[in-house]
Amino acid sequence: MQTDKVRVLFVGDIVGDAGRKIVIDSLDYLKNNYFYDISIANIENIAGGFGITKETYDYIEPYFDAFTTGNHVWDKKDIVINIDNMPKLAKPFNMPNTKGKSFVIIEKNNVKILIATFLGRIFMNPVDNPFILINQITQNPELPAIKVIDFHAEATSEKQAFGWYCDGKVSACLGTHTHVQTNDEKILPNGTAYITDVGLTGCHSGVIGFRKDAIIDKFITYMPTRFDVCKEDLRLNACIIDVNIYNGKAVNIEKINISST
Ligand SMILES: [Fe+2]
Ligand SMILES: [Fe+2]
Repeated sequence: MQTDKVRVLFVGDIVGDAGRKIVIDSLDYLKNNYFYDISIANIENIAGGFGITKETYDYIEPYFDAFTTGNHVWDKKDIVINIDNMPKLAKPFNMPNTKGKSFVIIEKNNVKILIATFLGRIFMNPVDNPFILINQITQNPELPAIKVIDFHAEATSEKQAFGWYCDGKVSACLGTHTHVQTNDEKILPNGTAYITDVGLTGCHSGVIGFRKDAIIDKFITYMPTRFDVCKEDLRLNACIIDVNIYNGKAVNIEKINISST
């Protein structure tokens, strides 16, 4: 760790066994080339493309310091039973009546970092208003100055608006959920690192990580189809963010899009 900065790796939605493979295969390269201090990953799709199980959580757990989630977090019944044994997992903050931790605080070299997930509401199922609920984090002086927020949302407009609303209040507002990395990473004027979507970690030869033939069929026939994780063109999408440890402001954001090493 540089004396005045902490470097954060944030990995975009890990989808199924394809995603798990490219993550594990890439970690040495990432560590040796980016020298990050802490690592976070979105794992809402880690189990078969939908949801999280205790088995898949335990598999990925040693490699990261914290995990964010999303709208698919509850897809597998297994998580409802086991979420209290997933201490690194930040459930969606704006689903306050569900089980799980509203945020995760990690500590490295005496630097504390808060990680939280917020869900968007445009073209998504109803949840509480993220613009109002995030004040519970940003206005609480007892929480760490360094805050990394995963904004898991569909609409680019909602994501940009949330990023501007968060500017100066959190260290990073990183979009997830659409599984397509955007080309708009930037440091906002008051020191928040922003990107509309970090992207997909998994198979890039399908449709957002799933076999394209079944999804094309669904668009043609409107019939329910089974979505299976595809396995080719594995890529890891991520961001590196450098944050000043004294004031929590980001000074650099860089996106990563790599294939196997
Ligand atoms: Fe996702
Ligand atoms: Fe999602």
